[in-house]
Amino acid sequence: MVEISTSILSVLKGQEAKTFFALEKAKTDYFHIDVMDGKFVEKNTYKKMFEYASYIKRISNIPLDVHLMVQDVKKAIDEFSTLEPNIITFHFEACKDDKEVEEYINLIKTYNSRIGISVKPETEIEKIYKFLPYIHNVLVMTVEPGKGGQTLLIDMVEKIKKLKKYIDENNLEIDIEADGGINLTTAPKVKEAGVNILVAGTAILIAKDYKTIIDELR
Ligand code: DX5
Ligand code: ZN
Repeated sequence: MVEISTSILSVLKGQEAKTFFALEKAKTDYFHIDVMDGKFVEKNTYKKMFEYASYIKRISNIPLDVHLMVQDVKKAIDEFSTLEPNIITFHFEACKDDKEVEEYINLIKTYNSRIGISVKPETEIEKIYKFLPYIHNVLVMTVEPGKGGQTLLIDMVEKIKKLKKYIDENNLEIDIEADGGINLTTAPKVKEAGVNILVAGTAILIAKDYKTIIDELR
């Protein structure tokens, strides 16, 4: 059974509280918080996502799955850790070298969150193999990070299969999370490839009934 992490990036203005309560009722497994700084990616959602995540924390016990699409990873880890997220994920591509990756892994460890590393579509998955024994979650971007509503890049299915094979061969206990363009058509493909957490934004937020779509994605 896969878990569903609903991205709140595309929540409609003025509908935020209503949407968060409805998603809580629909029993999404996580709220996926897409933090963008306007540098690592074009959009800047930093302040808005902090406010939304703080609000969700107040009204719900559903865990936060924070996806940091930022250059200043340390600052974002320190700030978003105040919300005690279940998972904090930073981008491999935001790190200047392997030493910096290890630094962020250790920093997140001090905050008792699960540690995630995300890779953009063009990053070879082998690049993060060496960190796998020290993290809990790999967030495989199935679209170019930066916005919602894009189409899943089908080559990413092979990438997920390769990662799953490596994890199994090395007896590692790691979640594989797919993020971007996930819907009822693409979900089976990434599940079959080995994903156990699906991030979906548009597919869920446009549905008339959140519980139905979340159960169907599961
Ligand atoms: C893109 C974000 C994704 C995106 C998912 O940069 O990381 O989480 O919001 O949204 P959909 O499901 O609409 O592709
Ligand atoms: Zn995301």
